[in-house]
Parts: sequence; C-alpha cells; structure tokens
Amino acid sequence: METPWWREAVVYEIYVRSFADASGDGVGDLAGVRRRLPYLAELGVDAVWLTPFYRSPMADGGYDVADYRDVDPLFGTLSDFDAMVADAHALGLRVIVDIVPNHSSSEHAWFQAALRGEGRDRYVFRDGGELPPNNWQSVFSGPAWTRLPDGQWYLHLFDSTQPDFNWRNPEVHAEFLDVLRFWLDRGVDGFRIDVAMGLYKAEGLPDTPAESQAFATGSPIWGRPEVHEVYRAWRKVLDSYPGDRMAVGEVWTDSIEDLARYLRPDELHQSFNFAWLEAPWSPTAFRTVIDDTLAIGASPTWVLSNHDVVRHVTRYGEGLASSTTGLARARAALLTMLALPGSAYLYQGEELGLPEVKDLPPEARKDPIFARSEGTLPGRDGCRVPIPWSGVEVPYGFAPDGVTPWLPQPVEWAALTAERQAGDPDSTLSFYQEALRARRALRGTLPSRVTWLDSPEGALFFTRASLTCAVNCGPDPVRLPPHDRVLIASAPVDDGVLPPDTAAWLHTP
Ligand code: GLC
Repeated sequence: METPWWREAVVYEIYVRSFADASGDGVGDLAGVRRRLPYLAELGVDAVWLTPFYRSPMADGGYDVADYRDVDPLFGTLSDFDAMVADAHALGLRVIVDIVPNHSSSEHAWFQAALRGEGRDRYVFRDGGELPPNNWQSVFSGPAWTRLPDGQWYLHLFDSTQPDFNWRNPEVHAEFLDVLRFWLDRGVDGFRIDVAMGLYKAEGLPDTPAESQAFATGSPIWGRPEVHEVYRAWRKVLDSYPGDRMAVGEVWTDSIEDLARYLRPDELHQSFNFAWLEAPWSPTAFRTVIDDTLAIGASPTWVLSNHDVVRHVTRYGEGLASSTTGLARARAALLTMLALPGSAYLYQGEELGLPEVKDLPPEARKDPIFARSEGTLPGRDGCRVPIPWSGVEVPYGFAPDGVTPWLPQPVEWAALTAERQAGDPDSTLSFYQEALRARRALRGTLPSRVTWLDSPEGALFFTRASLTCAVNCGPDPVRLPPHDRVLIASAPVDDGVLPPDTAAWLHTP
C-alpha cells in the first residue's frame, strides 16, 4: 500500500489575515493566498493549513466562529475558497482547514438564541449567585465565566465572546459532523482541530486544584476521556471519503501517554508535537523528545513555530549577546527536524527568518490576551505581523501600495522580503528551498526509525540509512561523523568540522 501523503508531508501554516491582502483592506484574504500559491509550490511544501476564514467578528482573529459554513467577507467568498483549492490542487498542494469545535463566537446563531433563553443546553450555562459556578480561569486571563443580566453564567475557556459548546448535547455532535462533510465535499484534504483536548468538561464542573498547571493531565477542564468518542466518529467520516483525508489535533498536554490516546488508529492521524517546539537548544532535550515521540508509534510530527508562540528565531536567541545566533539555530533546527521521520509543520515567514516583533505599540495590539491581562501579557500579535513580500516600503507587497496593514511591519523587514531573499543564494529562503528539495530527493528511501550515533559533548548525531544528521548545540566546533559527502548544511562546514549552532546532512555510503 502506498504511504498516505500526510505521513511525510511538509505542511505550511498560512495565518490568513497576515499572509497576502488582495482586496486592499489591510487584511490578508483567500484571493491573496491564491495568488501566492506558486511561491509555496516553489518553496517545496506539500500542503497548506489555513487558519479560520469563516464568518467571525474577529475577537480572536477568527477563532471565534459565527458561521462554520461561510467565508467572512473580510477574507472573500465561498467561490474564492473553491478557486483557491482548485489552484492548490493543480499545483500539487493539499489543503487543510481549521475546525474550531470547543467554542463558537457569541455571534453564532445558537448563542444568540441562547441569549434569548432558547437552546441554552448547546452551551455550558449554570445558575449561580454573585460568584461564578467554579474557580476556572480563562486561558486568555481572567475568569472563565460571564454572567448574563438574567443571572445565569456561561463558560468560556477563552474570551468572553467565545462561549464553550456543551458536548454532552447530541445536537452539537450532529452539527460538527455536518460541518466536516460541508468542507470535505468542497475538496479539503484535512482538518486542523483547534483545542482538540477541550470539548468535554468533567461532570459537575469541579474546581481545579489551585496548584494545577495549564493543560495538566487529570484536569477537570482538559483531556476528558469522552472526547475520544468524538474523534472516532470524525475518523469514520474522514475514512468514508476518497483520497486520504486527515485530521491533525492541537493537543496541549503534559503527558506523552495522554497524547498517544488521541493517535490511536481509529482516532486522529496526527497531533502537533509541542514538546519539540518547547524544547530548549540542547542535544539531550532534543534526543529525549525524539525518543518519546517515536515511542508513541503513531505518525510523528515536528513543529517549531505557529501563530500562538514566539517565533523560534527569537526564542532560540533569547538572552544571547549575538542577534545572529537565533537565526543560525533556527536554520539548524529546521534541518534537524526535516531529517526526522514523519511530517513537518512550518509557519509562514519562518522561511524568511522572521523574528518576533516585540515592540508593537499597545494601541496596535489586537490579541484579546493583551486586553484581558490588562497589558501584563504581550499576547501573540508579535508572531502575526503581515509577511514582507517585496519592495522597500510598507506594506512590502503584503497589500497594494499605500495600504496600511492591520498590524504594523518593522522598517527592518525591507531587508527580509521574499523578493530580496529569492535573489540571494545565502538567504534563509534559499536555504529552506534547498532543504525541502533535499528532503524530497530522499522521500520514501529512509527507514522510519533513527539510530543514535555516539556524539561529542554538545552535539547530536543520528542516522537513517544513508542519511546522517549532525547538529551542534554546544559552544565549540565538533568533528563531523564519518561521511562521503555533505548534502546540505545550515552554515558552511569546512574540513570536516561542524561549527556551533549548525546542522548538516551527510551522505554515508
Ligand atoms: C487555539 C488557537 C488559538 C486560539 C485558541 C482559541 O489555541 O491556535 O489561536 O486563540 O485556540 O480558539
């Protein structure tokens, strides 16, 4: 049997609002995505994952969905979507869309009805007094409950405009099965499931222990056992369509055993490997995550950045004197992850080596985390700044000339545009293209295991048949392991020496 495409795919996350604005309103849209698909094909990715473009008041950038079966006018129309999918498929790119089942927008017809006192059982409403029904806190800061004028409280694990669905109500199940079919019928190849460890809450909604960490196993809020039945039902729908349709879950958990439960053969195909993203720049940390991941035995994934976390160029450079170290490590980490069995998820702009934008002015910040925490948390806008495509002036080809993008772009990004990097063989963009080409050339030829080699202090060496990957996380240069050719390196390697913060792929006879 042929390996299904998603097992070895490189998937590129498009944060639609910040990718490309064709309409000229300063916000990215589906027509913009469509125009840039040839760039992605040339980059060498296999699939795109689009963040939500559904009807939404945009309180959480579209993760607050008001209508799961329509495109928000900000992003275009359903025919723009169809045209984009057709072009993607013609270019050999698969399309994954986001599905948000834990909560809707407060503007969703069901919640609007609930406000009028109809069908409140589709959400989590409770009677209460002056105090909320329990001590749960929103992931976005502040209490997870809001009280209506009639005295009832409703649960929202995120913003108060994102009421949680009641998954104990069969109507909610039926609705989402239908939404899946709606998009599958339109030709999508898969779904990214938002907050996949959410949905069910413990019966009786007991308090969380005071010391409990976010997303801890055993929490009354997350990872309840009932959620697995949902994914079993979804898997049946996916399997009933031709062409290897898939689902990847956003599962935040502190336990590898818990994660593995989502990846049983009749549940999700994949989940994001956040342990890899969270690992510090350390060979032992990397090795532990790799061993743990492969031990699950499901389809492994690797990811370094997404629209919710500080960009990894900046993460890896945190607290260091040299501003170039973060980028050097980011390039080395890419090569390391692309050498591993499984699929890799990239986040738009990482191929340009974009850093986190840390100095956005408070009035520009849009993430609800910033407002809900009263400015004590910066929020996630810094990784969502619109992509610099071309030219030397804002908006750098993100939008038509003269248009102000929804988040301000730094002046330094004139040097980081895709156009400028495309013409430079040493640029990060050229490096990504080369790395993805090298990976493609090896596709299907490597075993799904890795074999560890003895490696000097600070470094990590592993092989998969003819491919050896060496990464040096330490402060000193190390000798490369035996090889007959260097296939690609994240920085020049000369005389058999691997410099610090560098990775190389070696061919072994
Ligand atoms: C997920 C999304 C994030 C969103 C949250 C609530 O974590 O990735 O962007 O804010 O869910 O839907």
